[in-house]
Amino acid sequence: MENQQEPQFNQWYETNSEADQLLRDAAANATEQHDELSLRPQFLREYIGQAALKDELSVYISAARQREEALDHVLLFGPPGLGKTTLAMIIANEMGVNIKTTSGPAIEKPGDLVALLNELEPGDILFIDEIHRLPTNIEEIMYSAMEDYFVDIMVGQGPTARAVHFPLPPFTLIGATTRPGMLSKPLRDRFGIINAMAYYTSDELQEIVVRSSDIFNAPIKPEGAYEIALRSRGTPRIANRLLKRVRDFAQVQGKDAIDKGIVDIALDKLRVDNRGLDETDHKFLGTMIDYYNGGPVGLSTIAANIGEEAETLESMVEPYLLQIGFLQRTPRGRVVTESAYRHLNVPYQKEL
Ligand code: ADE
Repeated sequence: MENQQEPQFNQWYETNSEADQLLRDAAANATEQHDELSLRPQFLREYIGQAALKDELSVYISAARQREEALDHVLLFGPPGLGKTTLAMIIANEMGVNIKTTSGPAIEKPGDLVALLNELEPGDILFIDEIHRLPTNIEEIMYSAMEDYFVDIMVGQGPTARAVHFPLPPFTLIGATTRPGMLSKPLRDRFGIINAMAYYTSDELQEIVVRSSDIFNAPIKPEGAYEIALRSRGTPRIANRLLKRVRDFAQVQGKDAIDKGIVDIALDKLRVDNRGLDETDHKFLGTMIDYYNGGPVGLSTIAANIGEEAETLESMVEPYLLQIGFLQRTPRGRVVTESAYRHLNVPYQKEL
């Protein structure tokens, strides 16, 4: 047929601009991931913050290296963005071993796990992010893998089914989770090193922002870096993300260095307030105040009101609000604190 063409990419979309936007989003995503990789410290000595955890890990790493053994299994837990994956990669570098990275929900069948374990060399690290989402049958296979370095899995079905025994090299499992309470006790008990990641102080975040600006070649004033730190919810991933947006504003406005003024302008535009609360936090606290007089109110009720999953709120939103004392958990539900009312400029009139 004459002139028949394959559909063009942009014909699948309503308008050119829609397709353009998708391309831009994809490019931005790729850049963001690339930036995140290049910002990651490679060794413990470059890693800012988590001092107690670093000290502890460096002892275990030195000891395991001296004995020429695999490091004991490590469980890292804490809110997202605090550097669990980064730390796993650093541990691999410090041990001088390979690391294979996967996540709980990505391992669906016993065969997936065997394929991963099969590629490990003695001392290597298997990193499982979101380990609380490992399917139960996979978790059960992990027990013998962790404890005695073998797996027994069933192959075939019905009368021809048989157990196959796979010996494994000594390896280290590093598990990361935002929900340690969801891990079963038998799995938790098989980790020799269990550590919480803490929120970073503003001074530590300032140092991280200065380091990242250096890598980006974007000059920054100390007060500018500190202001970004204050608004980053104790979280390096957020600090680096805000830094990138502020850098855009500074560049477009022809600033030769990022100062507090441009940080204020950029972050006000991004609706990140001076304690780092974003729109979701404001919606969360606002709903509790406007409809439930500040609580106590159950998490699932708040979630239904603002159209978010309770689990998302619990792992991503609440921890920081609890940490800065804007929210309390009581047996009867969540309660907004007086200091949150003050921050939000709402009169505090709780009837007793
Ligand atoms: N970039 C992100 N997190 C970091 C950290 N903890 N130390 C140094 N640079 C970082």
